[in-house]
Amino acid sequence: MRIIKNTLQMQKIALGHIKNSDEIGLVPTMGALHEGHISLIAKSKKRDDITIVSIFVNPTQFGPNEDYLKYPRNTKKDLEICRESHVDYVFMPLVGDMFPANHKTFVEVEILQDILCGKFRSNHFRGVVTVIVKLFNISYADRSYFGMKDFQQLKIIEKMVKDLNFRTKIIPCPIVREESGLAISSRNSYLSIEEKKTSENISRILKEASEDFKIKDLNFVKEIVLSKLKKIPESKIDYAEVVDFNDLSLADESTRKVVFAIAVWIGQTRLIDNTIMIKQTK
Ligand code: PAJ
Repeated sequence: MRIIKNTLQMQKIALGHIKNSDEIGLVPTMGALHEGHISLIAKSKKRDDITIVSIFVNPTQFGPNEDYLKYPRNTKKDLEICRESHVDYVFMPLVGDMFPANHKTFVEVEILQDILCGKFRSNHFRGVVTVIVKLFNISYADRSYFGMKDFQQLKIIEKMVKDLNFRTKIIPCPIVREESGLAISSRNSYLSIEEKKTSENISRILKEASEDFKIKDLNFVKEIVLSKLKKIPESKIDYAEVVDFNDLSLADESTRKVVFAIAVWIGQTRLIDNTIMIKQTK
């Protein structure tokens, strides 16, 4: 496994592999690697000749009052995980290399970037999409792996790839959960033991919602979810929304495949989760 810290060097290495007809898989991460990230890496290892994992806490996707500075960083453990997962290259650029002071170019995906999480985190997706475009150009990835936990992020990147004719194929990967159901996230490390227990309600509520959705009407299911979420102690709901799986537009009774997406604060920690629900045809 090679650790590459320089963008130009990474690009040169990747181009060498392309000329050699190797297929490159990219797993973009912000580090603090866990089972969710490992599942993405495993998918790439299975399919691609070369697996690149990028570890970069991207300052451009954090708001001024968000957790950029306290975001968990554990390079030693991350590298151990990558080594155990037989990653070929870990790309860990410095902020000044990715976003020098005179960086001026940003990529935006209109509409999709402003709904759901975008309503509460302005400029977040602009930062995500811009760093992903850069990573695609640096890594020459044939495939790139994204978790469905960040469902809006996945859909926005799919749209950007389509709109801008990128050759990289986006591979969606299922949410990895703890045994309790809690979606694994680097931010879970912020939770106290008590808060973690409380957070487990989120996935339970979503699971119950997908059962209810089979037989009850959409607005009714939404109401039930909202009332259950409100009962979680120390919680504040950013949103609990049902959207079309394909384009994230608001779902109605006629939408067959929907995503129930939730963002909730538990104390000082913002958690997101979602579930895909399919209307049974009678
Ligand atoms: P990060 O939160 O580190 O997540 C990296 C990738 O791992 C994302 O595609 C995310 O959806 C996926 N992931 C995280 N938890 C998961 C879980 N429990 N199950 C399955 N996949 C999971 O998302 C980002 O970083 C950044 O926004 C990034 C795309 C790297 C751009 O900076």
